[in-house]
Amino acid sequence: MKLRTILSALLSLHATPSPGQILNIVPHQDDDLLFLSPDLLHNIQTGHAVRTVFITAGDSGRGSSYWQDREKGSQAAYALMSDAPDSWSAEDAGIPGHEAPLFTLNQNPNISLVFLRLPDGNLQGQGFEVTGSESLRKLWEGGVSSIHTVSGSGSYTRDELVNALGHLIAGFRPERLNTLDFIHSYGDGDHSDHHSTAFFAKAALEAYENSPVLTGYMGYPAINKTANVFGADLLEKQLAFYAYARSDPNVCNSGLACQSNEYYSWWLGCEYRLDGGPVSNAGSAQVAGLKSIVTLDGTQSLDPNNMTLAYEWTQVGGLPVDLVNSETSRPFFTTPDEPGTLVFELVVRNGKTSSSPAVVVVTTVRHPENIALKARVTASSANVGSRQTPEKVIDARTGGFPADHTNEWATAGGQSGSWLSLSWESPQLVSRIVLYDRPNLDDQITGGTVEFDDGSRIEFGELDNYGTGKSLDVEDRVVRNVTVVVTAVSPSTLNVGLSEVQIFGASASS
Ligand SMILES: *[C@@H]1O[C@H](CO)[C@@H](O)[C@H](O)[C@H]1NC(C)=O
Ligand SMILES: *[C@@H]1O[C@H](CO)[C@@H](O)[C@H](O)[C@H]1NC(C)=O
Ligand SMILES: *[C@@H]1O[C@H](CO)[C@@H](O)[C@H](O)[C@H]1NC(C)=O
Ligand SMILES: *[C@@H]1O[C@H](CO)[C@@H](O)[C@H](O)[C@H]1NC(C)=O
Repeated sequence: MKLRTILSALLSLHATPSPGQILNIVPHQDDDLLFLSPDLLHNIQTGHAVRTVFITAGDSGRGSSYWQDREKGSQAAYALMSDAPDSWSAEDAGIPGHEAPLFTLNQNPNISLVFLRLPDGNLQGQGFEVTGSESLRKLWEGGVSSIHTVSGSGSYTRDELVNALGHLIAGFRPERLNTLDFIHSYGDGDHSDHHSTAFFAKAALEAYENSPVLTGYMGYPAINKTANVFGADLLEKQLAFYAYARSDPNVCNSGLACQSNEYYSWWLGCEYRLDGGPVSNAGSAQVAGLKSIVTLDGTQSLDPNNMTLAYEWTQVGGLPVDLVNSETSRPFFTTPDEPGTLVFELVVRNGKTSSSPAVVVVTTVRHPENIALKARVTASSANVGSRQTPEKVIDARTGGFPADHTNEWATAGGQSGSWLSLSWESPQLVSRIVLYDRPNLDDQITGGTVEFDDGSRIEFGELDNYGTGKSLDVEDRVVRNVTVVVTAVSPSTLNVGLSEVQIFGASASS
């Protein structure tokens, strides 16, 4: 299901105040995805307006095509996190005396990115020769009096940069400002630009009267912490980073490639706030029957110091239910007597501070059993060597390449005309089919038919290219097999496939 789409539809039904703006200020085009997420994901999923300001071009002393591609990578990652097409409108950010592009996501104007394009300062702040060895650290410490954008559009003195950020803060009026580490000092193992950016952001905030809550996140030193991001949050964090990484040859860009790079794979599994804030995790999406008991699962939420957490679950969408034990990690409720979508948010607190709100969707249907799990699966072809076999569509795991490619079915070069069939020994009543495209950005089913053994068929259009499910209501039919036939694929498709197929129904004989 399309979580963001459901949320924006449901949030409007409730008289809750609209969620506030979140401003992130980071130096490089992957810092937000590695160090500020899953809070970043949670903030987008819960409908906040999110703007991220990237202070440096992330040029790493390389040519302009490198940093321009990294900006494209940021756009791809935010489009994925927002479940929207990667299509943006550009304008100027309006900083007096300076040029900086502001990009707004066309399908969701709540999501925007600003690029200041100052030179990457290198690990210790020594800079790179090609950019005159300028760095934010030197600007902060007084080693240079100004710093020039890599695009040649202008320069900033220290005060001008503080004022520029202050202008961006005042213009966006955030409720929260998130950045990297403003507490520790240069030379502690973190990248110099991480500290510099956080020092500048904090200085800019001091000049702004409506103080938003300022939160710093740990950068490189998270490599020495224990993993605390799991489940659906980890998968979506990984997919957003890999969407970015397609445009950055300097980083690993898939689960497989990142196995040999302990830094990236470790950072993806961590998020540490400097205020010791906990990480919320509301569990995976669930499907349940009518008038049945559902237990929500917040047990993967973690406190960085293993303090006892207080849980606060709130229903934010769907027919109201009576949430029992809503202040525990596993509250439960009885579902309404009609099909629909219920949405819950979880905030966890450790006595000192609280997490971002995580969100989970529970879909209620008449026939909640996923009968695909007991089907026999065959397909037109499969990439057997890489274990992307047909039965992976019923392994109860969504996701796939570029995260864990062994969670999906991929054809061996299949295009339009590829098919996957599920069959049962006895007749089955089928009421709803959910199809999950492979989550990589190249392979996408853009049209197909579902054919039943009684000769009937239904057509479907484009599947979500980011791998979230598309639901097809098929009225209650009694069948022995279901065949998904691909009739159209995106131009970039190499090996069409599916990461998961769920079929909700019941055994027709029982
Ligand atoms: C954008 O933000 C506003 C205010 O926070 C909210 O009411 C609206 O639903 C959001 N839109 C989307 C598409 O999330
Ligand atoms: C991780 O810990 C090791 C050992 O204490 C230390 O040498 C290293 O600098 C730390 N890494 C970072 C990035 O802080
Ligand atoms: C918290 O508990 C986990 C798992 O038992 C452990 O790995 C970690 O080191 C603990 N963290 C702290 C700060 O004690
Ligand atoms: C599906 O059912 C039809 C009609 O009974 C049969 O011809 C076909 O071989 C079946 N396909 C599979 C894959 O079981």
